[in-house]
Order: sequence, then C-alpha cells, then structure tokens
Amino acid sequence: MNVNLRNRHFLTLQDFSREEINYLLLLAEKLKEKKKSGITGSSLQNKNIALIFEKPSTRTRCAFAVGAKDEGGNPEYLGKNDIQLGKKETVADTARVLGRMFDGIEYRGAEQKTVELLAEYSGVPVWNGLTSSYHPTQILADLMTIRENFQYLEGIKIAYLGDGRNNVAHSLMFGAALMGLELTIVAPDKLHPKAAMVKEAENIAGLNRSRIEITSNREQGIKGADVLYTDVWASMGEEEQFAERIELLKPYQVNMQMIENTGQDRVIFLHCLPAYHNSKTENGQQILAEYGVEEMEVTDQVFESEYSRVFDQAENRMHTIKAVMVATLSGPEKTAK
Ligand code: CP
Ligand code: NVA
Repeated sequence: MNVNLRNRHFLTLQDFSREEINYLLLLAEKLKEKKKSGITGSSLQNKNIALIFEKPSTRTRCAFAVGAKDEGGNPEYLGKNDIQLGKKETVADTARVLGRMFDGIEYRGAEQKTVELLAEYSGVPVWNGLTSSYHPTQILADLMTIRENFQYLEGIKIAYLGDGRNNVAHSLMFGAALMGLELTIVAPDKLHPKAAMVKEAENIAGLNRSRIEITSNREQGIKGADVLYTDVWASMGEEEQFAERIELLKPYQVNMQMIENTGQDRVIFLHCLPAYHNSKTENGQQILAEYGVEEMEVTDQVFESEYSRVFDQAENRMHTIKAVMVATLSGPEKTAK
C-alpha cells in the first residue's frame, strides 16, 4: 500500500481518503498485536506531543498519553486553565509557539475553527481530539471494532440513534461514507444533521457504494442493522438542554426491544462513552434523578449484555490514536521535489 501520511493533519475524516483510512486501521491492528505481545516501540522516540484539552476526557486523553509513551514519545497535558490559548494571546500565536517546541499537537475544545488555526499556524501535525462539530479519532476506533467483529466493513449496516447533529453523528456519516458502510441516523426531526452536511456525506457515499439515510422512523431505521450506536443525549457544553432532549429522545433509547427489532442475530451495540446507563452510580443517580428518568440513551441491560462491544471500542481508541501519531509523525519522510 503506497500511503504516506507524514506531516498530515487530522481535523476531520474527510482529510483522508478511503485508502489512507484503511492504512491507519491496518496500522492500528498491527500496533494492537504488538502491544498484546508485550512489545513497546520507538517510532515516536524524541517526539514531544502537546495534548490540549479545553473539555474533559478520559479515553482520548489516556489514548494519546499511553499511545505516545508506548512508542517512546513524550506527551504533555495542557488543561483548560494551564495555557493562554485564545485568551491572553491569539490561537495563531500559541500555535506558533507550540510548533517551535512540539512535534505534534492534539486539541479538544468547542470550536472546529480553533483546531484549524492550530493546523494553519503551528507547522506540525495537528489532531482533532473532539470539537462540537466532529470527533474523527472516535470513528477510527469504531471502524476498527466493527471490522474486528464482522471481519469486513463494506455493506455493514449501522443505525445511530439519538442526537443526530452532534460531533459523533457527523463524523460517523463521513466514516461510513468513505469506507462503504450503510448508515441510518435515526433521530427526531429537530435533531437531524444539517442538510448541507448530509449532502456532503452523500456525495462521498456515492463514490464508495455507501448509503447515508436520515429518518425519524425508528422501526424502519433500525431494521436489519448490524450495529446499534448511540451517544449521550446532550453533549459537553449542552447540559442545560437535557430536559428538552430527554423528552425528544426517550423513544430513541437503545433497549432490548430495539435490539430485537433489528431482526438481526449478529447485532452489536456501540457507544463512544461516557454513557448514562446506570442509575446505580453516583453521577448517574444525580443526573437521572434530576430529570426524573430511570435510564437514558441506553439501558443498563443492553450496556452490560452480550451485544455490547463498548469496552473493545474504548480500548481501540488507543490503538487507532497511536496509529495516527505514528503515521503522521514517523512515516517515511516526504522526498523533496
Ligand atoms: N469517547 C471519548 O471521546 O471519550 P472521552 O470523552 O473520555 O475522551
Ligand atoms: N457527543 C459527546 C461525545 C463525547 C465523547 C460530547 O461531545 O460530549
């Protein structure tokens, strides 16, 4: 495979071609095998990696930190109140400073524009660790998990239930479109993705024998699905909308009835996590009690069931994120023209 991703940014999935994504998935599989056999590597040796987190994170932060260390790199966590990004100095200035010191920069925050500015001004590879618009590294792990389960991606049918206009739903549309999966976003009309974005994904889907559909009809949307996927009903920064979202999304909860209604024996359940599935946890109790519901986007029964692959999916965040760092920081040097 003649793919070279050295010095490339990863701001959205559309930054990469189908072949390039496939290359990253294969590299992630190799790195996973390597880690399972207890081998650490040196492909990120002497690479300093900035991890900017303006929003909280468990999986993404740990995936970048552990992934970098496994390959000999030096990750540096820069939390919300640690740096001046966009406050005392412009994003462009911070980007130019970080670019002089670091070999790669991960960014998680609200604005896609911020990660774009970091990429424009830093002079080093920049990776999107989640913005309100996209969550591209998540979808690499999802694709890896789907392929581990079914051994192939083309033609796999995903039904995504819930908030159809959040970062995960957006990136999932492009991941499916690029890699030839069939995706149905099953959401109430008010939470459908924007028409322009759907159009963009459909254009890519058309080139890859993929199909993207948006519907509010649950029965139709989940029929025959190999994968039921959901995410929280209100994303980080939208918590004040929980009450309204619960009303809108209650019928779209992933429960055992939904699993059965797919009519698909081999169906699996995915969730990017964190999930509100368990009123027994302190956090779950607090949120669920506040809104007077017992369960939200997924029932505990499904979350803990044999259908659930959520912890494989979470683990795969690390292998795929490691692959992104290795490919963009230590792939073959670009030959001078
Ligand atoms: N799925 C995901 O991005 O998890 P974190 O918010 O814990 O990073
Ligand atoms: N849509 C969620 C994803 C969390 C990984 C959020 O933005 O909060």
